[in-house]
Amino acid sequence: MADREELESVCKRRGFVWQSSEIYGGEAGFYDYGHLGAKLKDNWERSWKEYFLSLGDHYHMIYTPNILPYRVLESSGHVDHFSDILITCKRCGNSHRGDHLLEDITGESAEWMNKDELSDHILEHDVKCPDCGGDLDEPEDFNMMFEVDVGPKGDRKGFLRPETAQGSYMNFPREYRALRKKMPMGLATIGSAFRNEISPRQGVYRLREFRQAELQIFFVPGKHDSVFEARYQELEKKNIKLLRSDWEEQKEVSLDELDDLPVFYRYHLAKIYEFYSEVMELPHDEFRLRELSEEEKAFYNRIHFDVEVHMESLGGWKEVAGLHYRGDHDLGQHQKGSGQKMSIPIDGERLIPHVIELSFGVDRNIWSILDKGYRTGDRDCMKISGSLAPYKVAVFPLVRKDGILDRSIEVYEALKSKFSTFWDKSGSIGKRYARQDEIGTPYCITVDYDTLEDDTVTVREIESTEQIRIPISELSETIESLIKKEKGFSS
Ligand code: GAP
Repeated sequence: MADREELESVCKRRGFVWQSSEIYGGEAGFYDYGHLGAKLKDNWERSWKEYFLSLGDHYHMIYTPNILPYRVLESSGHVDHFSDILITCKRCGNSHRGDHLLEDITGESAEWMNKDELSDHILEHDVKCPDCGGDLDEPEDFNMMFEVDVGPKGDRKGFLRPETAQGSYMNFPREYRALRKKMPMGLATIGSAFRNEISPRQGVYRLREFRQAELQIFFVPGKHDSVFEARYQELEKKNIKLLRSDWEEQKEVSLDELDDLPVFYRYHLAKIYEFYSEVMELPHDEFRLRELSEEEKAFYNRIHFDVEVHMESLGGWKEVAGLHYRGDHDLGQHQKGSGQKMSIPIDGERLIPHVIELSFGVDRNIWSILDKGYRTGDRDCMKISGSLAPYKVAVFPLVRKDGILDRSIEVYEALKSKFSTFWDKSGSIGKRYARQDEIGTPYCITVDYDTLEDDTVTVREIESTEQIRIPISELSETIESLIKKEKGFSS
């Protein structure tokens, strides 16, 4: 485990992630991914696509623009409702997010409060400006969307999209026809979203430009349930860890015990849980699914659980994703706003499909991998799942003479066509191991004098530091099965 400072330091030093426009002093809420961060992010996005698109026969990626016309976001409700409560200091003029000011004093979430409730609590707790101690002005609504002027005259108003989801909703009717009316249908997208956060803090946790990976699944309840029921049966008696809104603490329960939730919702809760345990390989007691209370959830979300990861660097449980049952709100709103039919004919009537949304913040998930993976102590080490690690394998020549260097290059060349592979000849072997440990490379291979005799190499595993000796001819296959967890590592 590492604190935030240590983690930020290794992220900058080794090439994962850091504040954008750094050479000009940076701008809060914008971050750059370096060469390792970009690999990690790409691997996470690829794994996300593979895992979640495979949940349905008719689930596909689509890509849509970052800029949306005014009318789209007016229909979706963002123009009127996508706001946070802004409080300005009367003395220094600094802006603060109202709920955060209160949370810092009470230690309890205030995200659900409206302007009046927040104003009452701020008075009651005599909250002052955290920057100068000055008195605070009345709370006001602040719309978080970035407005853009489109066209040479700037007379076409638009917004940078505040979520990727809207592109999928608008494309439902076209894709429904293009995919030959197959339901349930899933439209996923991965891309940038923009929110003019009042006071971004906690590094990549609260950004003004960030990435989302979202899957919108369209179905008509009562008409397509059998598809979800069949998938649910495949899960058998899975247990998952949850915190329901009326529970004091989290518990591990079987899916069948959650019989107040519809089967389609339970199925997706379980699959998200599996993604965190099996793909991201987070320890079971370090992440959970938390149900939002009536006050916390948006009015259109009929059921809402967040995925939370316990992050040392961010001071506790933090939201990284959500599962939202949004009913027919989205397609209904776009039907009203555009005048286009979003309904489908089914059993002699026209019905507006409902949406279940799997929504992930890419940056927060990447940070959770780094937070959970990085350990300092006798040995600094980043434990990342083999399928997500920036480099899968590193190859070292023991010495740079007697043909060992050339043999190591041959091994490197053979592996790099299959895996993301690093080759390093500088410094002692110990230093080379340490460099790879710090960036999460699961396997290090050393070519030595024995290699010249018997064509075998040493493979070392990051976490245990155990070593095995195997023939070069079996190297590629062995690394592949280790990464896929088809076999365990032991000497
Ligand atoms: N389409 C639904 C939606 O956008 P959300 O809870 O507002 O729901 C989804 O956002 C995810 O996007 C969150 O779980 C979080 O991981 C990520 N996210 C939201 N705001 C963010 C921000 N300012 N910085 C980084 N990630 C953010």
